Amino acid sequence: MAEIVIVESAADAGGLVADEIVRLVRTRPDAVLGLATGSTPLPVYDALRSRLSGVDVSRVRGFALDEYVGIDPRHLESYRNVIFREVVEPLGLDPARVRVPDGSLEGIAHAGDDYEAALADAGGVDLQILGIGTDGHIGFNEPGSSFASLTRVKTLTAQTRADNARFFDHPDDVPMHCITQGLGTILRAKHLVLLAFGAAKAEAVAGAVEGPVTASLPGSAIQLHPHVTVVADEAAASQLRFADYYRYTWAHKPEWREL
Ligand code: GLP
Repeated sequence: MAEIVIVESAADAGGLVADEIVRLVRTRPDAVLGLATGSTPLPVYDALRSRLSGVDVSRVRGFALDEYVGIDPRHLESYRNVIFREVVEPLGLDPARVRVPDGSLEGIAHAGDDYEAALADAGGVDLQILGIGTDGHIGFNEPGSSFASLTRVKTLTAQTRADNARFFDHPDDVPMHCITQGLGTILRAKHLVLLAFGAAKAEAVAGAVEGPVTASLPGSAIQLHPHVTVVADEAAASQLRFADYYRYTWAHKPEWREL
């Protein structure tokens, strides 16, 4: 079962996860980080800025979860630009060691396979940061995504396009397609860390953690993974049936156990 940590604030969550990432990088200087976009991981990246000063990150590698297909690469909201602006530059990572799926139309037919090959070459992701969509998607794996899926092109749901419209001038500007690591790809990472904040995520979190394992709620795939940490604020955790048990477990966590 996943370890569920219910925190008071997104900043607390950011600090907790950042500490874990620093521990990982100190023990493994060429660690492979699975990077996520969206607003949810931002407190982690913020917290990492100060914590990583003095830590050698020159060999750290990174792989993003997903990208829009056909988006102008210069668009501020292409995930490539988001990852470089919000993660690579502030944390001082080596840009050559960070990859984002290639969403350009030219080569899209083999972009998924290329990405899988690069992930395999790197030895896989050590720690994968995840957010969750209001419909339960992780990466851009919309409801119905196969648990065996690998990096490939998907069609975004109307809900995801509406959720992400805030990043674009006009809702119609949100691309229709994306390229995303599959659920099967994500499940290969050694440690999954799913973060969720706010009441809008409560239903998706409850479904992912406690609901039936179903492709209808792709986040429920985390129940198939042996090492998962879910960090949620009170609002996002508000529909968890066993929340008291999770709080009790966290409060009594032996000191020798890491996240
Ligand atoms: C997008 C991303 C997901 C992210 C989700 C939630 O769809 N592809 O990786 O988890 O949005 O976004 P936010 O964290 O902004 O709520």
